[in-house]
Amino acid sequence: MTGFLMVFIGYLAGSLSAGIIVARLMGLGDPREDGSGNPGATNLLRLGGRNAAAATLLGDALKGVLPVLAGHALGLSSGFLALIGLAAFLGHLYPVFFGFRGGKGIATGLGVFVAWSWLVGLGVILSWLAIAALMRISSLAALVSFALAPLYALFITGSRPLAAAAAVMALLTTWRHRSNIQRIARGEEPRIGRR
Ligand code: G3P
Repeated sequence: MTGFLMVFIGYLAGSLSAGIIVARLMGLGDPREDGSGNPGATNLLRLGGRNAAAATLLGDALKGVLPVLAGHALGLSSGFLALIGLAAFLGHLYPVFFGFRGGKGIATGLGVFVAWSWLVGLGVILSWLAIAALMRISSLAALVSFALAPLYALFITGSRPLAAAAAVMALLTTWRHRSNIQRIARGEEPRIGRR
């Protein structure tokens, strides 16, 4: 019962879209209607600058971290930890508080990975940073690092539920990045630091 309750709480936490809240507080309008249309840290960087992006990144990551850490503290199985993380990620993509129009789940997914296992999180974050530094494209860094996440989860934790949940997250975020993928293929995806 506690496990299912935590999955539900994970979904509610994930539904708190930090980008939409930060943009409202800073008077930036709705990030879903501006820039790339994504309420994530990358678009908040475009629309509001570094502070808006940092607040969005932190808020979105924490809503992945905290429910999973609560699951650890409650002694839940890795199956439930996988579901709690997936629920927080799904909350970010389809937030009940914002008309089910959410984001792509990168910051929240990173938070989930860190909370599952700090080594898995570190692996995904370092992969993101390496690709972002090389290519200067946030979405490409996200796609490649999330594609690697199931492998990191499997080989570092040995947990099939965590690896399976990471694979579902990688597939879902790939779907959510489909317009980015088209722009990457056309060579039109904006580089980090440029509008
Ligand atoms: O975190 C989302 C990122 O991968 C892409 O964001 O705004 O460039 O679509 P954006």
